[in-house]
Order: sequence, then structure tokens, then C-alpha cells
Amino acid sequence: MPTPLIIDTDPGVDDAFAIALAALSEDVELLGVTTVFGNVPLEATTLNARRVLALCGRADVPVAAGAARPLVHAQLQRASHVHGSDGLSGRSAALPEPARALEPGGAVSLLVSLLEAAAEPVTIAPIGPLTNIALLLAAHPEVREKIARIVVMGGGLAGGNTTGAAEFNIWSDPEAARRVLVEEPVPCVLVPMDLTYRCAVDSTWLGKLAASGPIGTALEALTPDYLAHYRKALGWDGIVLHDAVAVAEAIRPGILKTESYPIEVECSLGPARGATLVDRRRQALRADAEGDVAPGRVEVAVDTDLEGLRGFILERLTQA
Ligand code: RIB
Ligand code: CA
Repeated sequence: MPTPLIIDTDPGVDDAFAIALAALSEDVELLGVTTVFGNVPLEATTLNARRVLALCGRADVPVAAGAARPLVHAQLQRASHVHGSDGLSGRSAALPEPARALEPGGAVSLLVSLLEAAAEPVTIAPIGPLTNIALLLAAHPEVREKIARIVVMGGGLAGGNTTGAAEFNIWSDPEAARRVLVEEPVPCVLVPMDLTYRCAVDSTWLGKLAASGPIGTALEALTPDYLAHYRKALGWDGIVLHDAVAVAEAIRPGILKTESYPIEVECSLGPARGATLVDRRRQALRADAEGDVAPGRVEVAVDTDLEGLRGFILERLTQA
């Protein structure tokens, strides 16, 4: 049975690869895409998501725009220095124009309607700030039972990429992240940057993608600004497809090795704001109750077959 999936996203170059991974996978029922502020402003993330779906020939997938800013405190910086001024290395306009109108009711409305209509519980893959998902769960707790699991790209177990403490998606809206990851009894998988960095792909991988056909060529063409950033971050010619790693887990459960831990999200306005505090002490040293889905416990993705994962993503992106 295909995996029913909704992606919440802030495209973003790695988001574009993640959306394409789902859109091109025949074992995925991509019910919808919702957009959020993040790497670039909401207007740009929304246009980018619609264009990537048009590139993949997925005019059947509804798109709705969500939050333009965090729940409480303003986002202090975006990530255009990583993804380019338009979020796609300045190449968004080279993609096809959107093939369908934006859904009128907004992201939370689309999420509710898709979840209510779903014949079986749906996987949600938030790969940007968690604002839309926090709003959904706060306003519509009745949809929890229609959510199979939430597979989040976010967090850092040993520091961050936006500050020394915090990873960008969590840092952009820590209050939303805390609501989803700590306060809500919905099964969550957290795919932190500690693992996504280890899954980085190199120029050979990108070359195979570019040579695979029009979609692969168009995706690779979105990477120049992103590659320039990750050449500095990695120290070699590669990019980190953070969001595609999370979506790979959403569509192929178990492709990532996970371990269950209690989690906290720092929401103070101090230097640790946005930190994800995963308590990896031995169980005997922790006072927490071992609940199946106790609030404040998440499955943390800690390892994978790196080459197998890179091959899985490439195979899916090049099969079109
Ligand atoms: O820290 C990486 C995450 O922040 C990715 O989702 C990237 O697209 C940005 O949103
Ligand atoms: Ca993202």
C-alpha cells in the first residue's frame, strides 16, 4: 500500500529535493504540500513548492500556504545565504510555472481536510519550522488519531548550524517545535542534523542526477548557491540534503535507525534558544516513565546505511 504523506516545507534547495523524492515515488500517496516561512519568506517558499511539483508533473497535488512568521517571537534571520535570494540559488524562475492554483483556505485548513478524508492514518513530514504543525495540533486536537507519525527534519544533538546551540528549523520557531515534539502525544521521529550531515552527497552523485534526464538536470541546476555554502561547511565538494533524508524515512520506515529518548526544546531568549536537548543518559539514570508515546519522547534518527540511503534517493530521483 502506498504511504499517505503530507509534506510541510520551506523550499529551500534541500526541500526541493525532498518534495521531488516524494512526488516521484510510486509507493507514496502525496496527499498535499503545505508551506511555511523559513529559508526565505512564505511567498517564495510557496512559489518554489508549486514550481517543484510542476517540474515533477504533479498538478494533482494541492498546495496551501501557512504561517508567514513564528508563533511568538520574530525569526531573527533567514537562510538566503545558504539557499540563494529566491530560495533556489536564484533559479526558481527557470522551473515550470505552477500547474494549479493555490488552495484558498491556508495550510491548517488543507491539513485538516486531508487528514479527515484519509482512509488510513497519514504521515506528516515537516521539513521547515514547525509553526503550521503546532497550529494544527493546537486548533484541531481531534486530528491526532489520523496522524500515523510526524517525521521532522530538525534539531541537533551536539550543537546547531544557525547558532552554536540550535538547528535552523527548530531555532526559527522554538515554541512551535516544543509544542509538537514535547507536548503532543503524537508519534514523532526527529531526524537531526547530526545524521543528515553524515548523509552528504558529492559531485559524482550530483553529476549522475544531472545526467539522468530533464528532472534531474533541473534539480541539479538549483544547487549552485547551496553547493557554495556546503563546500565551506563540509570542506569538500558536496551538499547536505537534510530534508530528503527525513522524507526517505517518511516513505521507507526504518531506512534510518532510531532510538527513543526524552526531549526538551529550549525556548528562552538566551544563547541556547532553539536547542534540542535529547536525554541520552541510560534509562536507569532517568526518572521518566517509559510510555509508548509519552509526551516528550521522540524516536531520534541516529544512524543509517549511508551509501544505501544515497543510492535510494538517487534511484528515486532518476527513475522519472
Ligand atoms: O537545518 C537544515 C534545515 O533548515 C533544512 O530543512 C533546510 O531546508 C532549512 O529549512
Ligand atoms: Ca527545509
